[in-house]
Amino acid sequence: MKLESKHVVITGGADGIGAALARRFAAEGARAVVVADIAEPASSVCDPIRFRQCDVTDREQIRSLIETAEDLNGPIDLFCSNAGIIGGIGLHSSDDEWRRTIDVNVMAHVWAAQILIPKMIERGGGYLLNTASAAGLLTQLGSATYSVTKHGAVGFAEWIAITYGDQGIKVSLLCPQAVRTNMTAGTDQGGVAGVDGMMEPDAVADVVVAGLDAEQFLILPHSEVAEYFRRKADDYERWLRGMRRLQERFPTGW
Ligand SMILES: NC(=O)c1ccc[n+]([C@@H]2O[C@H](COP(=O)([O-])OP(=O)(O)OC[C@H]3O[C@@H](n4cnc5c(N)ncnc54)[C@H](O)[C@@H]3O)[C@@H](O)[C@H]2O)c1
Repeated sequence: MKLESKHVVITGGADGIGAALARRFAAEGARAVVVADIAEPASSVCDPIRFRQCDVTDREQIRSLIETAEDLNGPIDLFCSNAGIIGGIGLHSSDDEWRRTIDVNVMAHVWAAQILIPKMIERGGGYLLNTASAAGLLTQLGSATYSVTKHGAVGFAEWIAITYGDQGIKVSLLCPQAVRTNMTAGTDQGGVAGVDGMMEPDAVADVVVAGLDAEQFLILPHSEVAEYFRRKADDYERWLRGMRRLQERFPTGW
């Protein structure tokens, strides 16, 4: 997909990776880029980028976001489910923390797809970009809530690609390791996620534009992740032993 003249919506677009995607998509000539977020944009936005408040844990707010964006700018060509949260260090996360992380990191993707896919099929196709994480292919040392929900996001994107791929629905799944955003701000160089280096959000956006151009399912800004994923599939037992050793180097994980 070329971004030129497209209408794009990005959740979690007020800051970090989402904001970098918005800037980059605008530079590629998108006709409208709606950044939707629970928080105000970290820096001011100008045409064709517009901000809309949206809490993605509420299905009706996602519905209203999609309807308003389409009323203003016509059909959405690309919807990016990018908002995400991390927390829950250790085994004893509260049920509230589990539910909130499931809602932001997985259910928001499900609700956007439920609302958009029927519309997209009716008009001949559409594109979804879902931000998971390398943690969704491997794991997140320290955080069960993040590991589990990001695996959920990977599974859901795979399922959409298989189920609707022949009906014009394209899906890309973004799985970075450490990126320099608010999410990694409290960590020492991204903690364990930073073992292969911390990327800047603008560099991630470059990789995403190339991945969308190639209509590639799996977009890996850190190319090492493909090899780790292969090793996990090749020998799960060995991979688990290796991850335990890695945990000794990063006892708090995140
Ligand atoms: N930073 C990393 O190292 C890294 C690595 C892999 C994956 N990711 C994923 O990338 C995505 C973007 O994260 P980021 O690193 O840019 O972090 P970030 O904290 O800078 O951005 C996340 C954005 O999501 C928004 N958000 C949170 N809850 C929301 C809600 N309920 N409704 C609407 N918006 C909400 C936040 O306000 C924020 O603007 C997330 O899905 C994250 O899990 C990040």
